[in-house]
Amino acid sequence: MLAPAFARLPHPNPTADDVRAAAIADPVFGRVFTDHMVSIRYSDAKGWHDAQVMPRGPLLLDPATAVLHYAQEIFEGLKAYRLDDGSMALFRVEANAARFNASARRMAMAEMPEDLFIGAVKAAVEADADWFPPVDGGALYLRPFMYASEVFLGVKPASEYHFLVIVSPVGNYFKSGAPAVSLWVSEDYTRAAPGGTGAAKCGGNYAASLIAQREAIAKGHDQVVFLDAAEHRWIEELGGMNMFFVFDDGSIVTPPLTGTILPGITRDAIITLAKDAGLAVREEPYSIDQWQADATSGRLTESFACGTAAVVTPVGKVTRGQASFTIGAGGPGQVTTTLKDKLVGIQRGLAPDPHGWVTR
Ligand code: COI
Repeated sequence: MLAPAFARLPHPNPTADDVRAAAIADPVFGRVFTDHMVSIRYSDAKGWHDAQVMPRGPLLLDPATAVLHYAQEIFEGLKAYRLDDGSMALFRVEANAARFNASARRMAMAEMPEDLFIGAVKAAVEADADWFPPVDGGALYLRPFMYASEVFLGVKPASEYHFLVIVSPVGNYFKSGAPAVSLWVSEDYTRAAPGGTGAAKCGGNYAASLIAQREAIAKGHDQVVFLDAAEHRWIEELGGMNMFFVFDDGSIVTPPLTGTILPGITRDAIITLAKDAGLAVREEPYSIDQWQADATSGRLTESFACGTAAVVTPVGKVTRGQASFTIGAGGPGQVTTTLKDKLVGIQRGLAPDPHGWVTR
């Protein structure tokens, strides 16, 4: 299918330069939004149509819109970077397009031609190219998403969808300023079960994680560690990040993609970069008991979480019930820092891009 051209609706009241400069000076993740959004409609009858770059604004939804009742919704997260030469770059946008369609298949939603997804993301960045925040770790966070827009209360896959891309200038995901995050292990709640939607990037997975996230915050931690639903034994992921474990022999373990874990694009990049650096990477189950034992014995030297929003975030401390254990020296370890620097170097055009991940 040919991607439709994007109609450009003029903005009646763009943000004034000084207001924009203040808004992007120190943006809290996900709180500041740019002037525009991309909107594309789908119906079984017409296919993809009505592609527009338009002023960002509220959506008017009929109360019977299917997504409000049955949560047929998926999203992506990726970043655009301003490079030193002034050009703009996207990181692995093709992988986001492919994962978006994998999520759409799992949620029985319309798949989108990948060139249309990529075109929409590029159009969103181009429309708001003056919104890059001039801060450490600054980028435009792009949030493509799609919801069931059919007005119908029957329980069935919708026949109409609305796809949008909104743009948020961001700095670092964690504002605490701490060198490493502290985690709470949820032993009461799980995020995803075999056969469920854990591998899809759907809003429902995040909704299911929030009660545990609230518990973690209430107990003074930054994030939740979810264990598998069947045995409550194997480490799966955090609420919105994949996990890595580094050992004293230099090897790295990350939980395997068994269908209950989000196939993170940053996760995949880290695996590739670690292997490039000659490190042994094993995608294998790792239990919470073993993590505690290995951290205590010193066999495990580092742990980190990763994701588009969080990039690479060192883990300092883990609490499980009444017991806590510290990872390494409690701050960023050498392997974590090296892998983060390699990743960020490629994303920001400061290092060669041997895998062709960057689209300028
Ligand atoms: C991302 O890293 O892009 C995510 O989607 C995680 C979270 C912000 C929901």
